[in-house]
Amino acid sequence: MSFLKNLWYVIRSGAPVSIVWSFILTRLRRSRIEENKPAMDALKRFAKEGTFTQDWFSWNVPYWEHHARAKQTGEDIREILEVGSFEGLSSCYILQAFPHARLTCIDTWEGSDEHAGTAGIRQSESNFDANTAKFAHRLIKHKEASRSFFGRTPAVATYNLIYIDGSHRCEDVLFDGLCAYDLLKVGGTLIFDDYLWDFYPDVARNPANAVNHFVKMMSPRMEVRMAYHQVILVKVA
Ligand SMILES: C[S@@+](CC[C@H](N)C(=O)[O-])C[C@H]1O[C@@H](n2cnc3c(N)ncnc32)[C@H](O)[C@@H]1O
Repeated sequence: MSFLKNLWYVIRSGAPVSIVWSFILTRLRRSRIEENKPAMDALKRFAKEGTFTQDWFSWNVPYWEHHARAKQTGEDIREILEVGSFEGLSSCYILQAFPHARLTCIDTWEGSDEHAGTAGIRQSESNFDANTAKFAHRLIKHKEASRSFFGRTPAVATYNLIYIDGSHRCEDVLFDGLCAYDLLKVGGTLIFDDYLWDFYPDVARNPANAVNHFVKMMSPRMEVRMAYHQVILVKVA
């Protein structure tokens, strides 16, 4: 039932055929994807030992692992960019899953529209620092808005993987995606979080509208590989 409800949201948001098709295929592959649940359980155990007030990430791990296996990525992943790190749960997963990579984290650590009243926002930066301390030699932290980071970063293809999970306003997600395209190497992966997130009553203000426009604009240079609550794309040109 929730699959059909989500599919209806995807269609209503104006998704291109490539996303609708990938959304159905990703669902059909669910049992294969779920074989990666042990990696999710490992991250949950790691989270219990750290200073985390929220887990907004671990359930994505089986999908990331499935994608990484299909792409046979590993040692070739050297530079990763994350927009929106919060307490560092996704950052810690990335740093563990890609042990040869350096991770650049961008966050204001001021929260977003939806975080008013959310536990953990005030301490999110100190929690991030504590949680990621043991990876400090592979971590670059920028405390600023993504617009400011992208605005002063030369458009040179540098990263093998870029994860967009900062501001969820449609215009910010589209801006982050377009800037990320320039910084992503050919063959690299771009992941948008919160594709199905419908916080704003006007569908057009939510991340799905941005991701849909991005995919329509950037096709065939970006290929959709998986679509569920996140959309996973690969830069092919
Ligand atoms: C959903 S949380 C990230 C969660 C994290 N990726 C995880 O899975 O644990 C979103 C983060 O984006 C940050 N943020 C919001 N707007 C931003 C912007 N314009 N630029 C950079 N970071 C932003 C917030 O401070 C917040 O920490």
